[in-house]
Amino acid sequence: MQVAVIGGGYVGLVSGTCLASRGHAVTIVERDAGKVAQIESGNSPIHEEGLDELLSATIGKTLFVTQDIREAVANSDLTLIAVGTPFNGDQIDLSQIESASIEIGKVLKDTERYHVVVVKSTVVPGTTDDLVLPAVEQHSGKTCGTDFGVGMNPEFLREGNAVEDFMNPDRIVIGCNDDQSFTAINELYNSFKSTDKIRCNTTTAEMIKYAANALLATLISYSNEIGNICEKVPGVDTQDVFDGVQLDKRFSPILENGTRIVPQSNTYLRTGCGFGGSCFPKDVNALRVYANQQGVDSAVLDGVIKTNAKQPDTVVKLLHKHYTSLQDVSITVLGLAFKPGTDDIRESPSLTIVNQLLDAGAKVTVFDPHAMEVAASTALSSHSTITYGESVKASIEGAEAIVVATAWPEFETLPAMINGSAPAPLVIDGRRMFAPDSVARYEGVGRGPSV
Ligand SMILES: NC(=O)c1ccc[n+]([C@@H]2O[C@H](COP(=O)([O-])OP(=O)(O)OC[C@H]3O[C@@H](n4cnc5c(N)ncnc54)[C@H](O)[C@@H]3O)[C@@H](O)[C@H]2O)c1
Repeated sequence: MQVAVIGGGYVGLVSGTCLASRGHAVTIVERDAGKVAQIESGNSPIHEEGLDELLSATIGKTLFVTQDIREAVANSDLTLIAVGTPFNGDQIDLSQIESASIEIGKVLKDTERYHVVVVKSTVVPGTTDDLVLPAVEQHSGKTCGTDFGVGMNPEFLREGNAVEDFMNPDRIVIGCNDDQSFTAINELYNSFKSTDKIRCNTTTAEMIKYAANALLATLISYSNEIGNICEKVPGVDTQDVFDGVQLDKRFSPILENGTRIVPQSNTYLRTGCGFGGSCFPKDVNALRVYANQQGVDSAVLDGVIKTNAKQPDTVVKLLHKHYTSLQDVSITVLGLAFKPGTDDIRESPSLTIVNQLLDAGAKVTVFDPHAMEVAASTALSSHSTITYGESVKASIEGAEAIVVATAWPEFETLPAMINGSAPAPLVIDGRRMFAPDSVARYEGVGRGPSV
């Protein structure tokens, strides 16, 4: 199948490369010339396990990249829209979706073959039918259902695991309003034979993605709120509490042979320093605003956002248990990415922590295995006083306190690295990576005072 993908970011690049590796002829359209050059040379602009290998195996063979939308769309059967849908502070910003739809419409004006326009970006319910469809119709002069079709195929990949998730999806949601569009989208996924596929209308597909992300974000904020309560209760540790909660058969079913299944969703039932990334914060906010526009009270979603916004503060409060002032205290923050496995720092709680420490006058050193360059050149670029460590070991040298803000596996050996150091640094475990007795001086989120 000939496929165009608009947007060569996390979703567009991973989807395009994976589909090209499954035999489709894919052309990615990316407006950023720098990204185009990098992709063309077979090097991924983002850090994702296995992506470089897949990219160099497909580029120039079944995968192509261009800035020219006409070249890509005119020669394709199907276009995936994978552009950004940020939250602008008031509501979802659909301007990239709208301009991509207009550009696609202009190309389709001069083509003969039936074409299906599929939204892969996360968009509020109604966007495909009420924005994409009319924009393509208006600018192509053609009729939806006769000359072209529209579809909505949300993406569920997780950054840090993106290639694996795309290649082995747990479900494929095909939102469409006619059989011809369904057949085309189904053909796109013809090599994913054993995957559960759900056919629904485009609006339901849009809502499935929001409901899924909002549920996961809710689990995280719920777990953080429980952890914040535990922190006030002498002798109680959130880890023990959730270990107990998760043994409920409804969360971890026991098979007839006695084996217990531990669903991955249980990893969301853990206290930490908050969620970030390019999806959960903006998607929960967009759904909250959308709910209000429909006259629905979004009390739960409002709470999810409120709890999350405050969660980085809990880490800084743990430091204040040991220091009345952080002025001139040497603190190393381990982890800048919003989660391990990615170099994405968008909305990362770690950045909030770094900013609070700088505001408090601390001498801050940071280290992240993959996100240092992007952080130094963007979010942290205005802070000239930050020291960037070259390794975990180098970054913790001389630190009075170490804050773990991202659960990178590279940090697992931290206790061994610092044990025996005099004076012993205080470890603030924002991700509950370590046993409390694994280091001399320990504070972890969600731990009540010792009894
Ligand atoms: N990142 C994730 O983990 C993830 C997972 C599932 C769904 N999503 C959703 O997928 C969508 C894309 O997310 P992302 O993280 O890939 O965003 P991104 O910002 O990494 O990438 C978007 C890309 O689109 C390009 N672009 C925008 N308009 C264009 C145009 N008209 N022509 C060519 N290129 C254009 C931008 O330059 C950018 O490179 C969002 O709606 C997001 O919510 C993201």
